[in-house]
Amino acid sequence: MKLENLKTESEIKEEIERVDNLNELNKIFKKYLGKKGEIAQILRSIKDLSEKDRKEQGRKANDLKNQINFLIKEKTKKLQITGEGMQNEWFDFTIPGKKPVQGHLHPLTLTKRKFQEIFQEMGFSIVEGTEIENEWYNFDALNIPKNHPARDLWDTFWIKSKATKEIKAKSEKLLLRTHTSPIQVRYMEKNNPPLRIIVPGRIFRHEATDASHEINFYQLEGLMLGKDVSVANFKAIIKEFLSRFFEKEIKIRLRPSYFPFTEPSFEIDMSCLNCKGKGCSVCQQTGWLELMGAGMVHPNVLKAAGIKPAGNNAGSQGFAFGIGIDRLAMMKYKIEDVRLFYSGDLRFLEQF
Ligand code: FA5
Repeated sequence: MKLENLKTESEIKEEIERVDNLNELNKIFKKYLGKKGEIAQILRSIKDLSEKDRKEQGRKANDLKNQINFLIKEKTKKLQITGEGMQNEWFDFTIPGKKPVQGHLHPLTLTKRKFQEIFQEMGFSIVEGTEIENEWYNFDALNIPKNHPARDLWDTFWIKSKATKEIKAKSEKLLLRTHTSPIQVRYMEKNNPPLRIIVPGRIFRHEATDASHEINFYQLEGLMLGKDVSVANFKAIIKEFLSRFFEKEIKIRLRPSYFPFTEPSFEIDMSCLNCKGKGCSVCQQTGWLELMGAGMVHPNVLKAAGIKPAGNNAGSQGFAFGIGIDRLAMMKYKIEDVRLFYSGDLRFLEQF
């Protein structure tokens, strides 16, 4: 095959333009550009020409090859976009499509939102506070004076600041809050009983980690004050909350405990759902998992916030509690290690 025997570029262009389906277009591709196509034949025969002709014919044949390639690609796109070329094509509608990658909420966010929904239905309002707190609200106002051994209950991340004598005296040294309880005081300073609030938020503790302890985690503080709010109200609300959250009856136990800001104080444990109470790494082989601390708000805390405690002259009383959001999420989703929540491991997160 010689170049002069081939159709001209404009003739080939017309030929391509006339085509109205992909099958025909494919035939044209094979005819000119296939392995045994006309251009391939021309290029193969070039070696027999004189050196001068070889160069010229070679260049022309390659130009033409590129041009035909371009025209066919353009025509293919056109036929695919308009769908014109598809009439004779078989299209399998049953092939599953590509699933678009979608973002989703973190399991702790899902848990927090569910908590909020349940407590809101029970008449609690949501209040927020800052993660950087000062010594007064995190400790002093909660009946934990300086040098009191109870400060050791929470290993604290202190924030380096210019701790002048004045700041030290006023307990204004900054820290990363070790619990959500400071917001109780901040709220009571500005609002009078009766009141019902919850405070969800992130907190920080300078402690060793294990399957159920992280250095930063989430708590949900609760506070309910009124004239005669009692421990019985607390038990009823927590039982209702847990059965709504887990959508079944949950076995709990109240253990006497100590918090400087509540009197009496107790801790609430639930039977470990991970091992059904038999003992595992999540519940440290006890069969019970500590969910929250709670108690009746100490009169000193009410006084620090400017609220008259219940007594002979009508005042207010009530309960407070601090739930570990991570611990409940672990039980709900059967997660064996709290650290997974913060690992950023997509293989874990994509399961929710
Ligand atoms: C407190 O933080 C008190 N402020 C709770 C409270 C509020 C008591 C109001 C009385 C009145 P505690 O340190 O026990 O208490 O923590 C409360 C809950 O947080 C625990 O029951 C547990 O569920 C969770 N928690 C505690 N430490 C960790 C940790 N390192 N990692 C994950 N969750 C934790």
